[in-house]
Amino acid sequence: MHNVDIDVVELTLDVMKFAIARITDAEPPLGVPRSEEELKALAGETVTAKGIGGETAFKLFREVLVKASVAIDHPRHLAFVPASPTRAAVMFDLVTSAASVHGAFWLEGAGCIFAENEAMRWLVSLTGLPDGAFGVFTTGGTAANLSAIVTARETWRDRHPERVGKRGLIITSAGAHSSVRSMAKVMDADLLIVGSEERFEGSALRKALDELSADEQDRVFAVVATGGTTNAGIIDDLQGLGHVCRGRGIWFHVDAAYGGGALAARSARHLFDGIELADSITIDPHKWLFSPYDCGAVIYRHPELAQKALAQEGSYLDYFHEDVAKGFCPADYQIQLTRRVRGLPLWFSLAMHGTDRYEQAFERGIELARIAGEMITGTGYTELVREPSLSCVLFRRHGWTPEDYKQWTHYNHHRGFALVAPTKWKSYGSAETVARFCFINPDTTENDIAAILETMR
Ligand SMILES: Cc1ncc(COP(=O)(O)O)c(C=O)c1O
Repeated sequence: MHNVDIDVVELTLDVMKFAIARITDAEPPLGVPRSEEELKALAGETVTAKGIGGETAFKLFREVLVKASVAIDHPRHLAFVPASPTRAAVMFDLVTSAASVHGAFWLEGAGCIFAENEAMRWLVSLTGLPDGAFGVFTTGGTAANLSAIVTARETWRDRHPERVGKRGLIITSAGAHSSVRSMAKVMDADLLIVGSEERFEGSALRKALDELSADEQDRVFAVVATGGTTNAGIIDDLQGLGHVCRGRGIWFHVDAAYGGGALAARSARHLFDGIELADSITIDPHKWLFSPYDCGAVIYRHPELAQKALAQEGSYLDYFHEDVAKGFCPADYQIQLTRRVRGLPLWFSLAMHGTDRYEQAFERGIELARIAGEMITGTGYTELVREPSLSCVLFRRHGWTPEDYKQWTHYNHHRGFALVAPTKWKSYGSAETVARFCFINPDTTENDIAAILETMR
């Protein structure tokens, strides 16, 4: 398997040809899912004792499997949180794999971790956190949120050892991402959800805290605010929430997994004022920072607290910390040990293009949302549910039922035209099914938006 052979070289060339064509294609086929039975019928047995051969397996991938998978960077994929990795980042993702570097410890990954850290330094600089703040790249926002919240809980217990057996309590808002709820379950912590999907205000947090019993107040170990809610792009009152947390000695986490890129957009930066009060921040490069999957990031005001909470120990690992070339070990600051150097594609793309080009691309997402808002208001048959926020737009088609939205999404997707999914607004209380755009891809055009709205006529 590891000897050079001409078939492998030819296959490598084929694979590279596919990769180059895909990387340079500004409008790849959208990709439409097939049922498992259909795929089984088309693919047959693929994992066999003798192997089906690289050529056959790759042909199957190229002609069947990838076509049954959505191209997340399609310019008319505006559902969920799409992605739009830069060509440079995707290309460098191939290089990162080919380089085969272990990114957990400085001893093994020094050069590549150095480069990742350069990108991290830029991310940290966007937050306004003080000197000493730093972070690591994770598999995504869920892992980043979990790493931060576990650090918060361990710090809360370290301060008062009698809390060791006590169940912690997290406060967040209805607009918070579902991963916050899932992570509370993983940690077996209680979760208090305050308010609606609208902006979570410092005054609402203060009131919620005041209504808790003394014991409950002592159990609150973290408040999670959102810097760009996934559904509507709303940025919580970070200043107000941060000050309440400071005043009460509660860990303040800001989940900016989706919205974090906008920290670099001059037109939106002021909306994040107060983020510098955070104890930890999640930002996902694989969302609005144009990195390929999977790349999240968690940043800590005091990274040494994360190290204390999360670093793994084992006699077979001791040498990593004894080597003369000691340095930053990403494994110490998040929940995962073995890791690829997943921040490298971001680093390469940032180094190649410069941060100004990134700012332009974030501004374009915000601009597309504003333009879409104007177009929606102008059709006569659609209207905004609320003003666009960051790059999210919620809107309704007059007279449509939830079933109409579903049919519309299905129709556009299955003919390979667009993937725009409905959502619910005010999912706590009386929920209305509405349509939603989330703009990430700077290649999306005004014509794309107009053509999608036309399908609602
Ligand atoms: C605000 C927010 N937090 C966390 C997550 C979870 O991130 P991931 O899917 O990378 O685990 C998401 C995903 O959309 C998100 O929007």
